[in-house]
Amino acid sequence: MPIALVVHGGAWDIPDDQVEAHHAGCQAALKVGWQLLRQGASALDVCEASLRVMEDDPIFDAGIGSVLTTAGTVELDAAVMDGTTLRYGAVANLRRIRNPISLARKVLEGPATMLVGEGAEQFAIDHEIPLIENHELIVERERALWEAWKASGAVLHHGQPRNIQQIADPPYASEVGGHDTVGVIALDQHGNLVAANSTGGTLFKLPGRIGDTALIGAGLYADSQIGAAVCTGWGESITRVALARRAIDLLERGLAPQSAAESAIRSLARQPLGGSGGCILLAPNGQIGMAWNTRRMAYAYQVEG
Ligand code: GLY
Repeated sequence: MPIALVVHGGAWDIPDDQVEAHHAGCQAALKVGWQLLRQGASALDVCEASLRVMEDDPIFDAGIGSVLTTAGTVELDAAVMDGTTLRYGAVANLRRIRNPISLARKVLEGPATMLVGEGAEQFAIDHEIPLIENHELIVERERALWEAWKASGAVLHHGQPRNIQQIADPPYASEVGGHDTVGVIALDQHGNLVAANSTGGTLFKLPGRIGDTALIGAGLYADSQIGAAVCTGWGESITRVALARRAIDLLERGLAPQSAAESAIRSLARQPLGGSGGCILLAPNGQIGMAWNTRRMAYAYQVEG
């Protein structure tokens, strides 16, 4: 059974001067996860460890460095799914957790499948995961962007002002200045496939808004018999087509991972949806697929052999 690891750092209009940092961040997450996989760690442990690296890297829209809501706060979502047990743990609307993926991992152990807001934070306290202040998640880059938007009533996108209504429009939603979501899929030596992701969501999202990332079948799905998928991009459109599950269904029908990824992204882009984003897929035999319809997607992968 080959071991394999795929990570992504978001599909969006990554500016030229941030490409190297995104690449380095994906490589760092891959390195940590791959070392564990080679030592025989479980796919669950590997996904958590790799995602923590990306949540701690301020270049990504996850954990520290996430985009701000219209209220100038950070609200985080994350999820993990174990393709062997089909157990799933998700958290959303977190304001005081440094590494949401570790809390999602705790939720996966039961009794709930998804916890949000204050209840999730109480669950964290109960499991000795410390709370931090929301401002500790905010970096200067995002605070300056929010202040500029607040002052002008618009945001700058390649020098062009766009107002808050335009941000909600599909063509711009994943591209307006913001970042997008990190994700990991691991295949361990026992054939367990696990998918996990984490995000600060979309730029200047409404407080309380939850995108695709924490939603099973939308942002992620894993079935060790069929394959695993993790998605990134404009969450509302990804959710409407249940993109991750759609990709898995295509694998189940016999498509190769690359064809399944491309077909899934075509369905995201079709009218009237017009969604944008990307997805990564991993099959039980270690075959990888990935596709995106944004300008760029950051990723790294390694497969045994
Ligand atoms: N893809 C992340 C979000 O829309 O929240």
